Amino acid sequence: MNYFKKIIRYALPYKKYGYLNILFNILYALFSTFSFLVLMPLLNVIFKPNENPISQKPVFTGIAKLMDYFKDSMGYYIQSVAGEDKSKALIIVVTLVIVTFFFKNIFNYLAMYFITFLRNGVLKDIRNDLYKKTIELPISYFSEKRKGDIMSRIGTDVLEIQHSFLSVLVMLVREPLTIIFTLIAMIMISLKLTVFVFIFIPISGYLISLIGKSLKKKSDSVQKEQGYFLSLLEETLGGLKIIKAFNSEDNFNSKFQISTLRFNNYSNKLLNRINLSSPTSEFLGIGVIAVLLWYGGTLVLVEGTLDGESFIAYMGLAYNILTPAKAISKASYSIKKGNAAAERVLEILETENSLKDIDKAIIKSSFDNEIKFENVSFKYEDEYVLKDFSLTIKKGQTVALVGQSGSGKSTIANLVTRFYDVNKGTITIDGIDIKNLTKHSLRTQLGMVTQDAILFHDTIANNIAFGKEVTEEEIVSAAKIANAHEFISELPKGYQTNIGDSGNKLSGGQKQRISIARAVLKNPPIMILDEATSALDTESEKLVQDALEKMMQNRTSIVIAHRLSTIQKADTIVVMKKGKIVEQGNHQELLAEKGTYHKLVTMQTL
Ligand SMILES: Nc1ncnc2c1ncn2[C@@H]1O[C@H](COP(=O)(O)OP(=O)(O)O)[C@@H](O)[C@H]1O
Ligand SMILES: [Mg+2]
Repeated sequence: MNYFKKIIRYALPYKKYGYLNILFNILYALFSTFSFLVLMPLLNVIFKPNENPISQKPVFTGIAKLMDYFKDSMGYYIQSVAGEDKSKALIIVVTLVIVTFFFKNIFNYLAMYFITFLRNGVLKDIRNDLYKKTIELPISYFSEKRKGDIMSRIGTDVLEIQHSFLSVLVMLVREPLTIIFTLIAMIMISLKLTVFVFIFIPISGYLISLIGKSLKKKSDSVQKEQGYFLSLLEETLGGLKIIKAFNSEDNFNSKFQISTLRFNNYSNKLLNRINLSSPTSEFLGIGVIAVLLWYGGTLVLVEGTLDGESFIAYMGLAYNILTPAKAISKASYSIKKGNAAAERVLEILETENSLKDIDKAIIKSSFDNEIKFENVSFKYEDEYVLKDFSLTIKKGQTVALVGQSGSGKSTIANLVTRFYDVNKGTITIDGIDIKNLTKHSLRTQLGMVTQDAILFHDTIANNIAFGKEVTEEEIVSAAKIANAHEFISELPKGYQTNIGDSGNKLSGGQKQRISIARAVLKNPPIMILDEATSALDTESEKLVQDALEKMMQNRTSIVIAHRLSTIQKADTIVVMKKGKIVEQGNHQELLAEKGTYHKLVTMQTL
């Protein structure tokens, strides 16, 4: 119920639809009861054609006799219109029945019509919030969570909430009201019979509710498995080339099949449990009806305290009460299922962002002086990957980071951009700790080009502009700096070419130059290049390297490089090993030192 309340908050903006739904549900419940009551005069006309006519207009003599008053009034009315003509009377009552049923269904439709806006609105808002949260949460959150799992939460779990919780919301008003109205009508027809019947209803209700138990656990496993195989699918789509090249299709097929088999087993158990609930409640329901037939029949035939047509209408009402009763018993199951889904959705929504801007964070609008690492230590998990790291990068300088893979170079980039926060020490820009800056203003100062160019399913122009309001000339001039203009112009649709999923239609070097153009257009004072040319062949490396050098002019740059030939011109080269600086100086100085750098260079020239 806890989760239910939290989800209900999402319905608040749509309360007007909720009210309209309640209004029409009240009318629906009224007419649904009424539709059985109007059967009584119909039965009366059919079964008692020779009954004495009611000669006087009936008078209301109190609530206890309301049902008699109702019956007599109807009889009197029909008689006064149709007179002795029985077939005319028949037409009148049939019309009456049709009209009440018509209204009952119209109101039912209207109630559902309005609640639809609420349900889908809530669905939309939860999804938007989830997406917003997904974008906001720090990168570290996702290294632990599989992407497919998040996709399954935004996709199916939200839908599940819409199905289960919100359908409960619909029932919250309608079903109890239908029960109450029907019950009132039943009591008015025969108190004795109703008391008798109601001894049996709680018993069958209890039996039905037993089935609902343990369903939450089953539905949990189903959802989790779904998250798993969506992850697998996501990975497969991303790694199709490798899977095929390594003839690993069978391997992946069997992994997927094992997962779907588990899913199949869980769903079978779950569905069959659900399947059981409807026949059980139907059968228990008919048990109640049987008791009612027997006792009611006795009242009519033996005791004579109930007339036939009232009894038949009563039967209808009793049946009418079963549907909402069944729905309510199902609701407990729905709530359990919805709870499981809501728990998974709220888990994301309620995750504290560990990298929030502080109160009154400083908005930095320029970079004037220096970036300074002071005794920075950092760990992703248990082991420190940067230890007591200190480095100053002056404005306008190019600082290169080299070292074995795993020595912590990319980690430096992750920390300057504040994808992660340092554990010890500080990183300052112009003397201000970057933790005191707004993330947005910090990142405005930074540009980034990574090893694998990250492009989106959109046109080249949009991939370069990336949401910035720019003219076409600006895009073209950025592309020119990035050495990308030439090949883009040769594409059939030029800048309007859609590059496909993650840019699959382009070569590595081309993609990289587009991502450089994007960085050029952003025009930040500080540029971070993390192995920007490592993934490229020598031919396109030259083009990209040239583009990078053009971009780095008049800028402060942190260049992480694998190929040492690309960083010889750097003002400072920092050689890293296991999270520490082992050497620092320019190319000539470091060569002269004949230390690690010298070794690395010799190794690469060989
Ligand atoms: N997201 C992460 N979670 C846990 N450990 C990580 C993560 N990213 C990198 N590491 C670890 O941190 C160390 C430094 O990594 P990284 O900075 O990427 O090295 P480099 O870029 O120099 O090759 C490595 O030992 C690596 O295994
Ligand atoms: Mg790296």
